Amino acid sequence: MDISSNLLTLADGNQMPSHGFGVYKITDDRELINAVTHAFDAGYRLFDTAQMYENEAALGKALKELNQPRDNYFITTKVAEQNQGYDQAIASTKESLKRLQLDYVDLLLIHWPINEHFFDTWRAFEDLKRDGLTKSIGVSNYGMIHLQYLATRAREMPVVDQLERHPWLQEEPMVEYNRAHNIVTQAWAPLGRGQLMEEPILKKIASAHDRSVAQVILRWQLQSGISFIPKSVHKDRISQNAAIYDFTLSDDEMMLIKGLNRNRRLSQEPELVYEFNHQYPH
Ligand SMILES: NC(=O)c1ccc[n+]([C@@H]2O[C@H](COP(=O)([O-])OP(=O)(O)OC[C@H]3O[C@@H](n4cnc5c(N)ncnc54)[C@H](OP(=O)(O)O)[C@@H]3O)[C@@H](O)[C@H]2O)c1
Repeated sequence: MDISSNLLTLADGNQMPSHGFGVYKITDDRELINAVTHAFDAGYRLFDTAQMYENEAALGKALKELNQPRDNYFITTKVAEQNQGYDQAIASTKESLKRLQLDYVDLLLIHWPINEHFFDTWRAFEDLKRDGLTKSIGVSNYGMIHLQYLATRAREMPVVDQLERHPWLQEEPMVEYNRAHNIVTQAWAPLGRGQLMEEPILKKIASAHDRSVAQVILRWQLQSGISFIPKSVHKDRISQNAAIYDFTLSDDEMMLIKGLNRNRRLSQEPELVYEFNHQYPH
């Protein structure tokens, strides 16, 4: 297996690359176009953006420059909190498609759960899928309680739940819950936003395999059986982050990494976003 052949089948029958590329915080158009071009050359086929990142238009330009058949890449975008609600979710998705210069996205996610418009946004998502503006629909930062609540009225359930996940925040109960409900867990901040690079245990494992700490973390994500979307703007790191298919972590090494869990978030607490109806300074 390599990065391009690491595909999984979602509960709705669509295929998704399991190992993708995130573009959060890349706001310079040329930097984003270069990063996406390097990533495509290194074998990445899934590109993850969001209305909030304000770089959908740059990703659209990058895709035009790639000049590839539409089936050769998989695009995810996310509806922002202020665009939730039935009409707004539909209107803002159409705006996203214009910026991306696409007729459809492959995966549309609700970026964060909020109590306002909770069911109306999902109803809009079901209709957007029915109308072909997205192939698949999912959520992000949803915990068990959000998924259980959604299930009380959903016509169809999310096929992906994108969650913060890295060795400090392993989210085992959520990963298990999603697996049991045929929902793919996709790790955001899969590298812990670069903050785990000095962890002695990870450094030791990396040196035993003659790999970088980033590669060890991504290999751990892969062997955990979930999807993940690392970001980098550097060509060498983009390639390095793709080259994780020719070594294996032992059971002991997997257990050592398991021991690094601190239930430590680097970003927002989803339950508070749900209560406030927006992301908060942190
Ligand atoms: N759904 C959500 O709420 C949500 C939230 C946040 C992010 N996301 C998505 O998830 C993607 C990934 O998360 P993220 O960007 O926050 O964090 P990440 O992928 O865990 O880490 C990115 C950071 O690690 C550095 N890095 C990358 N490869 C490296 C390597 N081989 N060695 C050392 N450092 C390396 C990057 O620096 P350089 O770029 O300088 O190389 C950057 O600072 C985002 O881009 C976005 O698409 C989703």
